[in-house]
Amino acid sequence: MQINQALKLSFLLPSVYAQLHGAAKTAGLLYFGTETESVSFGDAAYQAALKGNDDFGQITPGNSMKWDAIQPAPNTFTFTAGDAIADLAATNNQLLRCHNLVWHEQLPDWVSGGNWTAASLTQVLQNHITTEVTHYKGKCYAWDVVNEALNDNGTFGNDVFFNVLGSDYIKIAFQAAAAADPAAKLYYNDFGTEFPGVKSTAAQGIVKMLKDANIKIDGVGFQGHFTVGGTPSVATQVTNMEAFTALGVEVAITELDIRMTLPQTDAMLAQQKTDYQTTAAACLATKNCVGVTVWDFDDKYSWVPSTFPGTGSADIMTANVTKKPAYFGVLQAFTGTAANSTTTMPSMPNMTVTAPSLRASSSGASALDKPGMILGMLLSLIFAMFIVS
Ligand code: XIL
Repeated sequence: MQINQALKLSFLLPSVYAQLHGAAKTAGLLYFGTETESVSFGDAAYQAALKGNDDFGQITPGNSMKWDAIQPAPNTFTFTAGDAIADLAATNNQLLRCHNLVWHEQLPDWVSGGNWTAASLTQVLQNHITTEVTHYKGKCYAWDVVNEALNDNGTFGNDVFFNVLGSDYIKIAFQAAAAADPAAKLYYNDFGTEFPGVKSTAAQGIVKMLKDANIKIDGVGFQGHFTVGGTPSVATQVTNMEAFTALGVEVAITELDIRMTLPQTDAMLAQQKTDYQTTAAACLATKNCVGVTVWDFDDKYSWVPSTFPGTGSADIMTANVTKKPAYFGVLQAFTGTAANSTTTMPSMPNMTVTAPSLRASSSGASALDKPGMILGMLLSLIFAMFIVS
């Protein structure tokens, strides 16, 4: 075998070992992550996949940090379930995205049905945010401070917060969060904002409103709950995200899943692979898009079948933790190679060597990857020499 052939072959090796988080970091993102919840704690296969293969460097609690879980009754705070997810992140050495502080759903009746004045609701809002953010201070890479404030037509949703306080509730929320944990990245998070349009423009308006008032906002999350075949193109998503980063915030894909009408077919799984690859590639191509989070990685725990009846198979792995084509679509976006194997590879973090990506490096993460890249290159070279000899 010629040495140049062997070298080419050797550079294929690390891409086989690449796992999603490791590949994302090597390509210049901060993380690839997943939503998770305590319902999966007894599931050994799931937990092994969550922590074992360098696929997930970040987790988000699906429910246990929401208002109804944290403060179900006035001034009764219950952190046990949220703490379990925070502890899991620490044990697994994963970043934690904390989700969420203010949302019109999963909001207890004592808040949504209360008879509030502007002063009394402001006090409740500040107390909730200050207490929760202080409890998790130092543990959250980011907080989704306000979730889904907008209607599809770009107007503000008529929830209790908006009805009593107008859009000032968003300012009050971000101010309280910033005071309680100045180091956490503070995000506005929504869906239907992943492409240009009235809702995306309105979300940019929220960023501007906060910036104009000198209130800290660090990021905007795009949920990315898509349907197979309905994902906006790479160019569309990049253009959209760049409209936000131009305002001086980072962006992230925060809840990606891509559902299909059941029963699934091979054609839909193939389209789903393309669609996952599209959104991962869009984040990679956007300077200051820091990471991609899937809204669980395993169909067993997906929120989709119960929320959108007749649909499912929305995640990158099956209910028994087998990688679907979509998994390899994401990997392909991050590595630029067409790896498509269902073989389970041993856990070998930071061994990815990739072709240079389109991404202009924007986070401090890339510097951390250099030792892994050098190790990967060295191993490739040893492998090449072994073939030649
Ligand atoms: C979902 C959870 O996954 C479900 O378990 C729960 O029943 C409803 O909420 N947008 C969000 C998430 O911001 O908090 C939602 O999570 C999914 C839609």
